This record gives sequence, C-alpha cells and structure tokens, in this order.
Amino acid sequence: MTQALAAKRAVVTGAASGIGRAIAENLAAQGAAVIVSDVNAAGLAETLASLTPDCRSFVCDVADHAAVEALAAFATDTMGGCDLLFANAGVIAAGRYTKSTPAEASWIFGVNIGGVWNTTSIFARMMEAQSEGGRICMTGSEHSLGFQHAGAALYTASKHAVLGLAEVLRAEAPANLSVSLFCPGLVGTALGAGPRPEGLPAVERNVAMSARIQARGMPADEAARDAVEGTLRGDFYIVTHSHTLQAAERRLDEMKAAFAAQAPWSRNEDHYEVNKVIAAVAAEMKSEGQ
Ligand SMILES: NC(=O)c1ccc[n+]([C@@H]2O[C@H](COP(=O)([O-])OP(=O)(O)OC[C@H]3O[C@@H](n4cnc5c(N)ncnc54)[C@H](O)[C@@H]3O)[C@@H](O)[C@H]2O)c1
Repeated sequence: MTQALAAKRAVVTGAASGIGRAIAENLAAQGAAVIVSDVNAAGLAETLASLTPDCRSFVCDVADHAAVEALAAFATDTMGGCDLLFANAGVIAAGRYTKSTPAEASWIFGVNIGGVWNTTSIFARMMEAQSEGGRICMTGSEHSLGFQHAGAALYTASKHAVLGLAEVLRAEAPANLSVSLFCPGLVGTALGAGPRPEGLPAVERNVAMSARIQARGMPADEAARDAVEGTLRGDFYIVTHSHTLQAAERRLDEMKAAFAAQAPWSRNEDHYEVNKVIAAVAAEMKSEGQ
C-alpha cells in the first residue's frame, strides 16, 4: 500500500474489533497516525498491536460526553489535532418491538445516537478551527436508508438518527469540513456479541444467532476500505451492499404515492416550508434591530 496518508492524523472509535479495527488498520497501512478508541481495553490493545508504531490507543465510552472531550484533548496533545474522524462505535440488541426494554433503549440510543453526536460535535468543532479542516465519517447502516431490521427496532431507529445527524452537520459545515455517512449492510464482525451494560444480560440464543448471521457478512477489511476511500473522496453516502437500494426505492415510492394522494404539488406548496419561514423571520427580526 502507498503511504498516501503520511502526515494525516486519524481517530477511530469502536476500534477494538470489527469494522473499526479494520478502518484503523487500513489508515495505518497508508501511513496515517491513528488513535484507536473503544470501551473494550483488551480488544483495543490487540488492535494497537496490529498498527504502526506512531499509533496510540485511548479507552473511552463514546456515550460519556466528558470522556469524548478527553479523547479530543488526547488527540490535540499527542498529534496536534485530527484530520480524519471515524465515529464508528455502535451496539445492537435483538428483540421484538413490544419486547424491548427501557434499559435496552437507553443503552442503544446512548451509544449509537449520543455517542455519535458527542464524538462528531466535539471533533467537528476542533476541525472547523484547523486551517486544514477535516473529514468526518459516521457509521450508520443500511438501516439508515430504509432497510428495516425486523427484530431490532431500537437499532433501526438509532441508525436513522445517525442519518439525521449527518445531514444537518453537512448542511452546517464550513467548506473545509466534509461529512460522510457509511451505510454498510451485513459485515462479518462481532456485532451483537460484545459486552453489555450491567443489568442487561445477553440472551444466549440471540448471541448465538447473531454470531452465525454476522459470520455470513462481507469481510470487515472490504467494508473498511470502502469507508476510508469514500471518506477521503468526501462522498456523503458511502454504500456497500447493492440490495439496500431496493429498500430505499420502495420507501421513496411509498412516500411519492402518499404525497400524490394526500398533498399534491400546488402553487402554495412551499408556503409552510420551515427553512424559508426561518429565513423570513430572521430577516424580519434583523430589520427590527433584533
Ligand atoms: N457488522 C455489521 O453487519 C454492521 C452493519 C451495518 C453497520 N454496522 C455498524 O458498524 C459499527 C461497527 O460495528 P461492528 O460491526 O464492527 O461490530 P463490533 O461489535 O465488532 O464493533 C463495535 C465496537 O464498538 C465498541 N463499543 C461498544 N460500545 C461502545 C461505547 N459505549 N464506546 C466506545 N466503543 C464502544 C465495541 O466494544 C466494539 O469494539 C457499528 O456502528 C455498527 O452498528 C455494522
């Protein structure tokens, strides 16, 4: 591999295993200095051992805002900043909609939504202040795009939230900051088999089933290569599994049919369009000196 990323500084969360580990290995093989981060210290040490000597590790729970602030401070202290952020940490728990519990909801939403927001908001602020800017990749899923994960509503919902975060950050980002949403389908990792919070014991059958399902996924290094290449190009959507498009099209077709039947295009179609309303109100308030 070429040293195309020599002098680049990267941070990868959820890097103790799976896709995050493979992203870190890909970046390091291209010459980047990488900080790998995870809650799983033992797995993180294994990842670090597979990287180049100028890489480092930092144990961090992405759901904890102060811990992510500490991760960002570590990146500044040790590398002088960060050019590439992969907000990749994520968790899943299988369970039917009506059987899921509040404890599962707060765990999955805390890591998959709160963790991504903590990481990307803190690092986006850092990158915006750097003259060289930066690139941010959030790991969503094909479940961000309309491919429902039956039996994992909380996970599906959390990955839609990641799409929302990515779209708004992109809309607000200055020209020197690119935002990507990585939307893989099934990848062969340990997703579903990792540690769970206290009081939330794993269901043995679900873990065994997850392991068998994940084993049939795309190799993690292939998915990671797509994530890295897409992020370096500045693509917004980074997709890997072509069947996902069929689900996205089904969703769009259903929406189009609903609009055609219930809210067809009319002359006043954008009368209540909220971005235009906000701009009009802001202009009014400015002219009133507020
Ligand atoms: N494997 C797939 O089929 C698949 C498909 C689409 C999206 N994804 C997403 O890819 C990302 C990586 O998952 P993976 O498949 O490599 O699974 P994985 O379980 O191998 O890796 C996830 C990593 O996140 C870490 N993690 C969990 N909670 C954390 C926290 N609070 N703070 C920091 N780290 C934490 C875990 O310890 C683990 O190392 C996740 O966001 C997942 O939702 C995976």
